[in-house]
Amino acid sequence: MSQGNIRNFCIIAHIDHGKSTLADRFLEITKTVEMRDMKHGQMLDTMDIEQERGITIKLQPVRMDWKHDGKEYILNLIDTPGHVDFSYEVSRSLAACEGAILVVDATQGIEAQTLANCYLALEHNLEIIPVLNKIDLPSADVEKRAQEIEDALGIDKNDVIAISAKDGTNVEKVLERVVSVVPKPKETKNDDELKALIFDSVYDSYKGVVAFVRLMQGSVKKGDKVYLLNTKKQIDVIEVGYFRPKYEPAKILNSGEVGYIVTGLKTVREAKVGDTVWQKGTTKVEMNTAVPLDGYKKVKPFVFAGIYCTENDDFGVLREALEKLQINDSALTFEPENSSALGHGFRCGFLGLLHMEIVQERLEREYDMDLIITAPSVSYDVALKGGDVITISSPAELPDMATVDQIREPWVKVELLTPKEYVGAIMTLCTDKRGESKDMQYLDQNRVILSFEMPLASIVVDFYDQLKSVTSGYASMNYEYLENRAGDLVKLDILVADERVDALALIVHRKNAFYVGQDITKKLKDIIPKAQFAIPIQAAIGGKIVARETISAFRKDVTAKLYGGDVTRKNKLLNKQKKGKKRMKMMGKINMPQEAFLAVLKKDGK
Ligand code: GTP
Repeated sequence: MSQGNIRNFCIIAHIDHGKSTLADRFLEITKTVEMRDMKHGQMLDTMDIEQERGITIKLQPVRMDWKHDGKEYILNLIDTPGHVDFSYEVSRSLAACEGAILVVDATQGIEAQTLANCYLALEHNLEIIPVLNKIDLPSADVEKRAQEIEDALGIDKNDVIAISAKDGTNVEKVLERVVSVVPKPKETKNDDELKALIFDSVYDSYKGVVAFVRLMQGSVKKGDKVYLLNTKKQIDVIEVGYFRPKYEPAKILNSGEVGYIVTGLKTVREAKVGDTVWQKGTTKVEMNTAVPLDGYKKVKPFVFAGIYCTENDDFGVLREALEKLQINDSALTFEPENSSALGHGFRCGFLGLLHMEIVQERLEREYDMDLIITAPSVSYDVALKGGDVITISSPAELPDMATVDQIREPWVKVELLTPKEYVGAIMTLCTDKRGESKDMQYLDQNRVILSFEMPLASIVVDFYDQLKSVTSGYASMNYEYLENRAGDLVKLDILVADERVDALALIVHRKNAFYVGQDITKKLKDIIPKAQFAIPIQAAIGGKIVARETISAFRKDVTAKLYGGDVTRKNKLLNKQKKGKKRMKMMGKINMPQEAFLAVLKKDGK
């Protein structure tokens, strides 16, 4: 079949707007697979967590054959992850397509991240097919939402297709539009030179690392020796094939097609998203002069946290578990870290908070680990007086302030989409978090897009929850990295029973240090269990105490109410208490519960 019949497209949608349901309808219309098989057989292995949270981070790509109007088409559907943590992956998925279906819930309207992804799709010159979903619901307002799409994206409202992915209304029209407006893949002349874009890579327990590719030019088949131009690796192609959505081996993948390559690599870090699979002859010299496809970026973690075991002997198990997770998660980084408070653990780097939560849940569920996770922080560039610049990802690594010339922290551009009645509350929230208001635009009479520049540190902690709380859940947000900017930042130490707890130290803006110190000491006072002696809790900048609370002494003897000498009963009770201590860490004479390390995450007074 010629390239003229291929259409490569993706779906851009906000969480819950109906992307999975629409994809299922496509599979039915094209008779590719029964919906049931898809749900149970094909989802990626993070699905447990995704399904419980009601989110799909990414759908499996799929190749569908569709006979329509006497013609046969090959439709390749690729997904874009619907979460801000994965914006680089979105950009690579878009680069693999010529068109994008924009799905907007007709009862909700467009959301901040969809808008951002749509702008990105327009930048990549993708043909956009606007779709309003859920028109079977009484609260669907097609006219208003179509106008909103026109105003926000400059797409003619008359081009919007109103559908119900649930009952199938007009879904076929979407596919008809795909074949009529999405351009076929560009024909290329250099077909002796392979260039394929890796838009995703996964670890499969049978096949090893499988790279998901879009061929931009040339072809690839089993047995070929190919190169990854950015990581400079050679691969012997073990198998190539298509997504049906299960892996279906094929003889050859040709220019314009979407498929997979079984690489024989051991971890997905070696087949990075955005890398170029290349071949032309086999000499190294040629590889060094070959030009990779545009847009490759090394993904850098943005958010860092320490992960420790409650039992110190589990350190080896934690290392193994992290290594295993990393096989299928190229964005996860970890390095051993020692904390005087928590012992041996790892400083882990994540793409964002959702990514961090997923890793935490997988460690706890799949590896049955009992963990202490410290509050997330960002990384800082620290310019030293001697002229050197070091990058630190933990406040504990900050050198003596006497040697520091400047601390630079990451800033992000935040876009918030909200009903207009919440503008005031959002302004207050963002300004409190050191945000600078940059722009405000009305999307329609009721909805506003607000633009801020903010320190990333202000949004990695609990910004999203607070945003949802002050807007009754109506606002949505998107953010992108801007640059590192110098700030008047200081290290805030927390002392418990006169001991500095390194795992609780924070880097904060000087003007917020007093307030943050007070807040944390208060929270810790409520969280740390009483002991048989008074426990002072202090916050300090250098030698200066900025806040102090005291936990009064308390003597609790769990065995006091037992009389008689039944030692088994006594032991049973003590064991029960020991169990209750899980997720606590003994520090000197003090028990620190897990919540203490996340005290900064908790909302004021809530
Ligand atoms: P994520 O998995 O979170 O990314 O969401 P999604 O965009 O894939 O949405 P999904 O297809 O899971 O749909 C979200 C919810 O909306 C589900 O409960 C669907 O049953 C429902 N839904 C999807 N399409 C329609 C529709 O056309 N009409 C109605 N009434 N409900 C729909």
